[in-house]
Parts: sequence; C-alpha cells; structure tokens
Amino acid sequence: MPVQIIVGAQWGDEGKGKIVDMLAGDADIVARYQGGANAGHTVCIGDRQFVLHLLPSGIFHPHICCVIGNGVVIDPSALLGEIAQLQAAGFNVGGRLFISHNAHLIMPYHKLLDVIREQTTNKIGTTGRGIGPAYIDKATRNGIRIVDLLDRDVLARKITANLEEKNQILTKVYGETKIDVDAIIAEYEAFDKKIDEYITDTALYLNKALADGKRIIAEGAQGALLDVDHGTYPYVTSSNPTSGGACTGLGIPPTAVSDIVGIVKAYCTRVGNGPFPTELLDATGERLRTIGQEFGATTGRPRRCGWFDAVALRYSAMINGITRIAITKLDVLDTFEEIKICVGYEVKGKRLKSFPTDLATLERITPVFESFPGWKEPISSVRSYADLPSNARRYVEALGGLTGTSVWLVSVGARRDQTVTCS
Ligand code: IMP
Repeated sequence: MPVQIIVGAQWGDEGKGKIVDMLAGDADIVARYQGGANAGHTVCIGDRQFVLHLLPSGIFHPHICCVIGNGVVIDPSALLGEIAQLQAAGFNVGGRLFISHNAHLIMPYHKLLDVIREQTTNKIGTTGRGIGPAYIDKATRNGIRIVDLLDRDVLARKITANLEEKNQILTKVYGETKIDVDAIIAEYEAFDKKIDEYITDTALYLNKALADGKRIIAEGAQGALLDVDHGTYPYVTSSNPTSGGACTGLGIPPTAVSDIVGIVKAYCTRVGNGPFPTELLDATGERLRTIGQEFGATTGRPRRCGWFDAVALRYSAMINGITRIAITKLDVLDTFEEIKICVGYEVKGKRLKSFPTDLATLERITPVFESFPGWKEPISSVRSYADLPSNARRYVEALGGLTGTSVWLVSVGARRDQTVTCS
C-alpha cells in the first residue's frame, strides 16, 4: 500500500488528526499536502492533548518522517513555534521533518489583507491566517517560497516588490497605513538558519521513498466541501483538500495511490459562513456542540452543528474516490433519543438528483430526514464492532449504506485505543 490519502470528507474538523496519528503506527512517512496554519489537528497522546496546525499528525511517532509538501502555505513563525512546543514536550523533530523548498510563505501582509477583506468585501468567515491572500500570490506568480529564505538578495528583492503593490492596496483601497519593508525583510531573514535544516526537495524525497517501498500517508487539512473547486464556493478555503490535491500538493503520481480514506464525523459541523443544509439552530444543535466540544481548534469559534448529511457525503465520496470511511465521534451521540440522517434534498417539493454546488440552489434546499433510534448507553470503552449496541451498529450501517461507502473504522473517543474496526 504505497500511498494512503486521508481526506476530510465534510467541512473539516472531522477528527483527521486522531486517525492519522493512529494509522501512522503502521506507516513510514506522513505528508501534509495543502492548507496552512488554518488547520487544527487535535491528537491525544495518553492524557496529553496537542493541537497541530502545520506539522503532520504522525509527528508523535519517533519512527515517522514528516513532510510538509509544496501545496502547503507556511507561516514560518507559526511553524517554528509549533516545533518548539513539541520539542519542549519531549518530541524531537530533528532529522525527520522535511519541508518542501517549493512551499509558499505566508507573509504578514497576507494575514493583514485576510482580516481586512473579511471586515470589508469578502465575508467568508476565514480563520484570518492569511491563507487566501497567500494562495492569490502563488496563483498570480508573486509568491515567495521557502527556498527564497536561503538567499537574502532574492528574499529582499521579492519582499520589496510585493510590498510596492501591497502598500498601494493597503493605503489606497483600504485606507490603512503602509507596512515597513525593512522590518519584514529583517523578520524573514532571521528564519533562514532556523528552517534551513528542514528544507529539501520533498517531491524527490517522496518519490525515492516510494521506489524504496515505503508506506506514505498523505494528510489533508480542512474538508472536501471546503475545496476551492468542488466545495460550496465561495464559502471555501483556497486550496484543494480533496484527494486530487494530494498528488499536486506533494508531487506524487496518482498511480501511487492505493487507498483513499474519508474521515467522517457521525454528525456534521461547519465553521465560518456558507450553506449548511442540516444545520440545527435549536437546543439539539447546542447539545451536539456542548457534548462534542465543537469549538474551533485554531480560532476557538463555536462550530455550527447539524445532523449527518448523506447527500453531501455521497458527493464527497464521488469526487474523492473514497475507498472506505472512518466515522469519528460516534460516542457524542450516546445520550440522544433520536438521531437523524439527511437522505435527500428537495427544492420546491422536487427531489434533487445530486449535491448542488451552486450557492443559489444550496440556500433553497429543504433536507429530507430519516430518523434512527438512539442507543442511550456509553460506548467509549467498546473495542469490538460486535460489542457496540445494536442501535449504534444500525446507525453506522445506515451511514455506510446511504453514502455508498464501506465503513472501516469507528472512533468512540479521542485516544488512539478508542477505535473499533468494522471491516
Ligand atoms: P481560510 O482557510 O482561513 O481562508 O477560511 C476559509 C473557510 O474555511 C472558513 O469558513 C473557515 O472557517 C474554514 N476553515 C479553514 N480551515 C479550517 C479547518 O481546519 N477546519 C474547519 N474549517 C476550516
């Protein structure tokens, strides 16, 4: 099994961190392929909890080599802070962390423009981490890459050229004050010695690893429905969390991929703005948020909560080519009398045949629900599928059946061992 892609199959926050950490026990390399420090991957090691924003979730296994691929946008201070935090907690990353020389840098003006646009023109509900503006510069070919940190002349020239344009935008369009070019050059020049040891041609590294028969987990961030091409545009992130993004974001060929695991929460959540057909704006939604501790791992924002959406997941399974799913947070539903699954979408009484990605239709949808009886008992200590209460198994099987996917794993708690294998 050369490359296994782990993809968030909903709107992010499905619990990818826990599953990647767990699967990394049997892998050699974990490679993150898109997004930036907008992600918050929570991993519990014993009774310690860590939230990773840029480092791949395999980092807690000393045998694992971790890659941050060319598709990721990197805020160097966030990355170095994360590395320092992990080293202080006893996890050494030296010699086993590789950062793509082609990954783009997040600059202070990206973060500033992200926040300003949120307040003025573009109310997406972003994390404010500069993600969109950094990918804009990448696409318009003004971006500054990790490798540029290693050549002071190039770095200074690129920062100066960028700020000539950005300062015009900041002052003339948004009425902000100019950013000091020299301060940013000095700040970014100081990163070279700290990051140099990790920088490499990761596409070359990964392809050599494949030739040597190594097992690679490609770790996505966010979720398929936040994909800039296939998600609920414009309420999306600016990269491709879908499985195709793993090949472009790492420089590995599609032919190396043998398994695409969709991580699926047992209900739905979404942070930020945008359509959410099964959202519960009532006490039930509040109950899901409280029991599931549904608050953003990066921003602390309360997540919007709703019932599981089988229509959205069928679509996600299709565009990702999901071979099997892992259902997380099933235990959050332990106390519910009744649990619902959205099995269809209607617009003006007419059933839709597929998931619409245009905003106008998505906003007019009436979800059609099927109801399931709850199991009303704690399942966090269950370790075998047969020991799950029959109503829990019925619910899990319905999720698989209604989405046309095969259920591989069910997670019943935050720890590695709180996982049940189904098939
Ligand atoms: P951005 O990625 O910060 O530009 O935010 C764009 C949208 O993606 C917003 O709705 C964010 O809340 C959402 N988003 C970004 N990263 C994550 C994540 O890791 N989990 C869930 N939602 C996210």
